[in-house]
Amino acid sequence: MSDEFVVRPGGPLRGTLRVPGDKSISHRALICNALAPGEAQIYGLLDSADCRSTMTCLRQWGVEFDESDDRILVRSPGQDEFRPADGVLDCGNSGTSIRLLSGVAAGLPFRSGFDGDHSLRSRPMRRVLDPLEQMGVRVDSAATAPFWVDGGTESLRGFDGELPVASAQVKSCIVFAALRAGEPSRIVEPGPSRDHTERMLAAMGAQIEADSATIRIHPGAPLRPRDVEVPGDISAAAYWMIAAAMIPGSELNLPNVGVNPRRTGVIDALRQMGARIELGNLREASGEPVADLVVRGGPLHGVLLDDEMIVRAVDELPTLAVAAALAQGVTEIRDAAELRVKESDRIAATASMLRAMGVEVEERPDGMRVVGGQLQGATVDSHGDHRIAMSAAVAALASESESGPTTIRRADAVEISYPGFWRDLDRLRHVAV
Ligand code: S3P
Repeated sequence: MSDEFVVRPGGPLRGTLRVPGDKSISHRALICNALAPGEAQIYGLLDSADCRSTMTCLRQWGVEFDESDDRILVRSPGQDEFRPADGVLDCGNSGTSIRLLSGVAAGLPFRSGFDGDHSLRSRPMRRVLDPLEQMGVRVDSAATAPFWVDGGTESLRGFDGELPVASAQVKSCIVFAALRAGEPSRIVEPGPSRDHTERMLAAMGAQIEADSATIRIHPGAPLRPRDVEVPGDISAAAYWMIAAAMIPGSELNLPNVGVNPRRTGVIDALRQMGARIELGNLREASGEPVADLVVRGGPLHGVLLDDEMIVRAVDELPTLAVAAALAQGVTEIRDAAELRVKESDRIAATASMLRAMGVEVEERPDGMRVVGGQLQGATVDSHGDHRIAMSAAVAALASESESGPTTIRRADAVEISYPGFWRDLDRLRHVAV
């Protein structure tokens, strides 16, 4: 695919679109089933570069995957029988792979090395390595990848305390290590990060109890493989949700989207801005709440987004900032310093994209202030970040029709989490009236 994509301003979005499988749940379905000896089927796994990174690493430890059209079979000898990787584990661009798998490595009786691409090498790793060290794991690292984990169960102690950041990647890392420790763990999280790991492990037989802020783990319970049906990714749906909410006259159906309450900050934020979003056919799939969404376009107004909402909408904030650019009044995003250490500095990248499109934005250390107005077509750069590329596409769709198309540079970044994004955009355009 070309690394530039041109998006013309679009009319209302109408029709039905099924979004790809949830990225976070896909990683966990692969990793949790790899820990258990035996076989499990995963339906609806997200086929993207990030999930491929997790599979590549797990294969190095001896896990096998048989892929067919609609599912993947995981066949694993179980964590006890993993073999040392032949070289460093390359996690590509994937923060979820490197952080979750370093927790698994803590319970393996050999040394594992971790590395990734240029972006991943710049992301903070002490947030997982410090708590692992507290558990008695020997790590060999500066503050970033590459790093090495000397695992083993003999000296692995339980974890007792609060994590340094409200991050599901950090929490999951420590949970995977705690499953193999010699004593129970109590993990306190500073904010309500996504709980897919806890849900899946509990369903597989782990002794894990979680309340609003504390997870307790009693190690040693054997894990059973479990088939997983991965729901549609709310973070992928969010691009279309936000585009539809911003463009008057839109009416878009997004069936089968995961609506775990720790992921639905984007729905709450859009509703606060005045968007009309309905959740129908609420049900459960593999222990996760799922619903069919209907979004209708209309006028939006500015809001304050802060506190626990930020954790529950962390990946959607750049696109919510795009919605803010068309909303009436001012929107402020606070408490979101974490955005600076994602695949790119998403505060800087979003602010520069919006400014290029004619929006008044003030960048702050922990967020931004966006003055609602109009979006003008422009040339913008994804900074190699999938979520910035897709947020720019939403901005382009909602831009003034006379202002011309938007050219998105490094548009192929979407491969990380949503390889069919440009195809889906074209499809929605064709059903648009
Ligand atoms: C993820 C957690 C979030 C999110 C990332 C996926 C996960 O990161 O930004 O895209 O699957 O655990 P943090 O947990 O570091 O906030």
